[in-house]
Amino acid sequence: MDVERREIGDAAVRHVGPADRLSEAQHRIANNLALIAGYTRLQATRLHKAGKPLSAREACIVLEEVAARIETVGELHRLLSAAPSEGAGVNESGVDLGRFLGKLCASLRDTLSFAGETSIVHRDGGGCLVRPDQATPVALIVSELVTNALKYAHPAGVAGRVLVSCRPAGEGLVVEVADDGVGLSEEFDPSTEGGLGFRVVRGLARQLGADLVYESSGLGLTVRLTLGADDEHRVIPLWPDREAHVREGTDRD
Ligand SMILES: Nc1ncnc2c1ncn2[C@@H]1O[C@H](COP(=O)(O)OP(=O)(O)OP(=O)(O)O)[C@@H](O)[C@H]1O
Ligand SMILES: [Mg+2]
Repeated sequence: MDVERREIGDAAVRHVGPADRLSEAQHRIANNLALIAGYTRLQATRLHKAGKPLSAREACIVLEEVAARIETVGELHRLLSAAPSEGAGVNESGVDLGRFLGKLCASLRDTLSFAGETSIVHRDGGGCLVRPDQATPVALIVSELVTNALKYAHPAGVAGRVLVSCRPAGEGLVVEVADDGVGLSEEFDPSTEGGLGFRVVRGLARQLGADLVYESSGLGLTVRLTLGADDEHRVIPLWPDREAHVREGTDRD
């Protein structure tokens, strides 16, 4: 099938050789490890503020969430350091987001024991190319949303389904995480409230210059991220000002 290639920003069109790819991968490993460390510290601060002991299950979930974030970034590095001939989904035009999210879903499936009976399904609309620095925030957003769906969508433990998809749309692309669970409570506004998860999702979406839409009902929660081909957001800082996040509980975004 001849798939139309979409590129998010013309910086995606850049010819890179193996040496460039390796040095880019090394640079990103350092940045992304710092990102994960920052994230883990924020979680520690939050747990400290909560001031109550965790049960064995809660501690296990917290550690598995950290492991999932590390896996997410690890998956991206595997992809970035692989040669295009290995068919990893990275070429001189950018990262094939659909393939990357497919690998990410498989790795989340293997990492998160609290998934229980819920399955993670992936659908690739084809032709979703992004730059590596865009792939990291998108992957972390998807990882947070999938983790949430596994934790909260089916409190009774029934076998549910989380669908992760991406598809081209207009000049950009749409990434969706949809579950078939209980949805958000009516009083809860995910665009301003939530724990570290939704805050990070909002912050990363802002960095990407992406729109974030939540559709919640008794049939489940769908979160839709729309990325445009916006020049202004071609360079994305990997982590927002840490101070702003440490002021958790006082700031509202
Ligand atoms: N898919 C979902 N289905 C139902 N409720 C959800 C779903 N995702 C999130 N929620 C609700 O939204 C709340 C906020 O989620 P958020 O990710 O911000 O925090 P958290 O998961 O509680 O903690 P963490 O900071 O570890 O992510 C959750 O506590 C949960 O009540
Ligand atoms: Mg969460």
